[in-house]
Amino acid sequence: MRIDIVTLFPEIALAPLNESIIKRAQGAGIVEIHSHDLRSWARDKHRKTDDYLCGGGQGMLLKPEPLFAAVKDLRRETTLVILTTPQGRPFKQEDARRLTTCDHLLFLCGHYEGVDHRIIEELVDEEISIGDYVLTNGALASAVICDAVVRLLPGALGDERSPEEESFSNPNLLEAPAYTKPVDFRGLKVPEVLLSGHHGEIEKWKRERALERTRRNRPDLLEPPPATEQE
Ligand code: ADE
Repeated sequence: MRIDIVTLFPEIALAPLNESIIKRAQGAGIVEIHSHDLRSWARDKHRKTDDYLCGGGQGMLLKPEPLFAAVKDLRRETTLVILTTPQGRPFKQEDARRLTTCDHLLFLCGHYEGVDHRIIEELVDEEISIGDYVLTNGALASAVICDAVVRLLPGALGDERSPEEESFSNPNLLEAPAYTKPVDFRGLKVPEVLLSGHHGEIEKWKRERALERTRRNRPDLLEPPPATEQE
């Protein structure tokens, strides 16, 4: 897979991806990640990338010219163009899984105040939000999405662990609490059942604790999906 990120802050996007598992995945040739400064596509002498809103309103928007030029240079036949924006569809684990099948992801990082809508209409395949809060720019959001996708690519996690076992995989439950050594830490004991060697009992305990944790922290995951609208 190849990933290109176009942003006003290329270092912000890249820093989290140049550590640990994602760094290793790049070294192993599983993914190639490039981060580009949007200003390098700005043609005027001040390298201007944003401007005031037409019709009035607070703040600045990303201008169309540099982003259109960047996409023209970077897009290939198989590219999926993603805009990171708080106005996007919420990013879920199932989206991370779906994006692993793409050959080329091109991220356009929104300005927190937004982008000219012609960019969305003409260039963008998907608008994605990583949560209901507003970041100062979309570079961190792009890095978050890349991390979630790249760790699912075959070979990225090594053999230690299968992504199928974790939270948000099927079924839609959070993971059960987990413990390591020592088995007694200041009188706080690891639950007996986990030391019992009874695989059936351990699985049952994990299912019950996972359900309990999901009920407490994410009851929305246990609700039935909303009925689809009738035509
Ligand atoms: N840019 C600013 N806030 C964002 C968010 N929550 N998700 C994606 N991109 C963003």
